[in-house]
Amino acid sequence: MCGIVGYVGDKQAVGVLIEGLRRLEYRGYDSAGIAVPDGAEGLCVVKRQGKLADLEAAPELAGLVGTTGIGHTRWATHGVPSERNSHPHLDAAGRVAVVHNGIIENFHDLRAELESEGIEFRSDTDSEVIAQLIGLELAGVPGADLAEAVSSVCRKLEGAFAIAVVASDSPGRIVGARRHAPLVTGVTETGTILASDIPALISETREIIVVEDDELVDLRAGSLVVSDIEGRERVPDTVHVDWDVAAAERSGFEDFMLKEIHEQPRVIGDTLRGRIDTVTGSLRLDELRTSDDELRSANKVFVVACGTSFHAGLVAKYAIEHWVRVPVEIDIASEFRYRDPVLDARTLVIGVSQSGETADTIAACRYASQLGAKVVAVTNVVGSSLAREADAVVYTHAGPEIGVAATKTFTCQIAALLVLSLYLGQTRGSLYPSEVRGVLEQMRRLPEQVAEVLDDVDPIRAEAGRWARVHDAFYLGRGPAYSTALEGALKMKEISYLHAEAYPSGELKHGPLALIVEGVPVISVVTAGHVQKKTISNVAEVAARGGRIVLVANAGTDMGGLLPDTVFEVPETHELLAPIVDSVVLQLLAYHVAKQRGCDVDRPRNLAKTVTVE
Ligand code: F6R
Repeated sequence: MCGIVGYVGDKQAVGVLIEGLRRLEYRGYDSAGIAVPDGAEGLCVVKRQGKLADLEAAPELAGLVGTTGIGHTRWATHGVPSERNSHPHLDAAGRVAVVHNGIIENFHDLRAELESEGIEFRSDTDSEVIAQLIGLELAGVPGADLAEAVSSVCRKLEGAFAIAVVASDSPGRIVGARRHAPLVTGVTETGTILASDIPALISETREIIVVEDDELVDLRAGSLVVSDIEGRERVPDTVHVDWDVAAAERSGFEDFMLKEIHEQPRVIGDTLRGRIDTVTGSLRLDELRTSDDELRSANKVFVVACGTSFHAGLVAKYAIEHWVRVPVEIDIASEFRYRDPVLDARTLVIGVSQSGETADTIAACRYASQLGAKVVAVTNVVGSSLAREADAVVYTHAGPEIGVAATKTFTCQIAALLVLSLYLGQTRGSLYPSEVRGVLEQMRRLPEQVAEVLDDVDPIRAEAGRWARVHDAFYLGRGPAYSTALEGALKMKEISYLHAEAYPSGELKHGPLALIVEGVPVISVVTAGHVQKKTISNVAEVAARGGRIVLVANAGTDMGGLLPDTVFEVPETHELLAPIVDSVVLQLLAYHVAKQRGCDVDRPRNLAKTVTVE
C-alpha cells in the first residue's frame, strides 16, 4: 500500500508532487521519490530512503524546473525499504519511469522472461517489471504511443495495480492505469493531476474523477482522457469532495480505526494475492527461504507473539495440528523467552508481529535461533527487525495501520498463517491437493464475506446502544472461535475501557460462571464447526443465570431451544477461516461501544502502537 501522485500543467511539478505526497504519507513512509522529465536531461529521478522530509531535503530537487512529474511514497511489499527499491522505477534505457501501488502477482514469471532476454533488474520489487515492459514496448518503435504501450503491458499484468508513467519521448504527458487499486484524477486550474487517493488532490481540485478497473487516463496540461484498456474513451463524471484534509486521509471515515476495519475486504485479498498458483490451484510462498526438506523434517512447531498477534497465532495452532499433524505449542513471547522451552534444529518457530519490532517477540525468535530452530516471521513490515533476522518471512500486506488497536492486521495475520499452514500441509503431503484446493476456494470468498459483515452494521450499532450501563462483559468460543473471543474481548478493553474477559466456553463452569448475574452481556461465537453444539449448550448455562445472550452465528443455526437476546448473523465458512469473518463483528461492536462512551478509538489511553521495550 503506497501513495502515488502525478501532475502535468503550468506549475513546477516538484512543488505539487511534494504537497501531494505529504497528504499521502500516512499510506507509506519508508521511502519516497519523484521523476520529472526534463527535455535536455531526459528523466530526472530523485529518491530517498526514509521519510518524505528526507526527499524534500535533497539538494537535487532545487534544479528540477519541469512542469510534468510523478511521485511515490512507499510502504514496502517486495524488497526491503532502500533507495534501490524506492520508486519511480526506470526501464533499462532510462527513458520510462513508473510509480506503482499494489502487488503484481506474476512478477516472478515476467521478470524471469525479461532476464532471459538479457534485461538487468536494478531492484527487488515487483514494480520494476512494469517499467521494463513499457520500455520494451516503446524501444525501437518509431512513433510508438505511450498510452498504447501502457495498455499492452496492463494486459500482461496479474494482480493489483495503480500506476503512473512518464517517458522522456512523451514530454508533457502522464499515463495512468488501474486494476483493483484506487486511482483518482482531476483537472486543476493549472493542469491535470492524478493520485492513488483523494487527499493528494484536494489542494489542487475538489472535482474528482474516479478511474475504474482496467481503465487508462491520459493526462496533458490542457486535457484529460479516460479510456478502457482497448482505447475506447469514456466521458467521466466528476464527484465534488468537500472533506477537509484530515477527513480525506481517513477516506471520509470518522476515525482511522473505522477506515481500517472497512479496508479488510481489500487487504485480505491482497494478503492472499499471488500466493495461489492460478493454473494448478496450489500454493506458492515466495518469501519462504527455507528449503522444503527443512519444512518436512520439522517435528514440532512453536508460535510466539504478543497481544493481538498471539490471538492470530492461536488459529495457526489449530490449523497446523489439524492439517499438518505436527504438535504445535503457542506462547506469549515474553513468557517463552524466559521459560527454558525445549526446542532444537527440528523445531519450526513462527514469530507473529504486525510491526516486526516488538521487543519480546524479536527476543523470543532470536533465542529460538540460538538454539538452532528455524524461524519464520509473519509480519506486516517489510525489512522490519523480525523480518531481517528470521530464516523466512511471510508478509501480511495489510498496509500501514494508524489506529493503535490492531484490526485489519489481525485478519490479515490469520489469512497469512492459514496460507502458511496449508503450505506446510502441501509440502509435507499431509493434505491431498484437492483438500488444499477446497480450502483455497473458501479463502477466495473471504473478502466478499467480510464485506457482507461490514454492510450489516445496524444490529451491531443497536446492540452497542444497550451497553450504557455495562461494566463487565464475557466472550466465549471453542477451538478457533476461542481466538475470536479473545480478540473481541481485547478490542473491547483497549478502546472502550470496559472490563471484558474471554474464556474457552467449556472452562466457564470451572469458576467464571460465578460472575454471571442478571443482564451481564456474554458474547458467544457459535458459527459452524465441530464443537458448535457444545458451545451452544455452554451458552444455555449462561442463559440460566440471567446473562444477556449475544451470539455471532450463521443464519439458520439450530439453537437447541436457546433464546438469545441478540444474534449477529455472519456468512458461513470453514471453521478455521471463520475467525476472519467473525472477528469483524466484534471489532465493530467494540468500536460502537467505545464511540458511545466518548472514547478516542484511534489513540487509546496508555497504549503505544509498537512496543519496543520489554
Ligand atoms: C492490540 C494490539 C497489540 C499488539 C501487540 C503486538 O490491538 O495491537 O496487542 O498486537 O502489541 O504487536 P505486534 O503485532 O506489532 O508485535
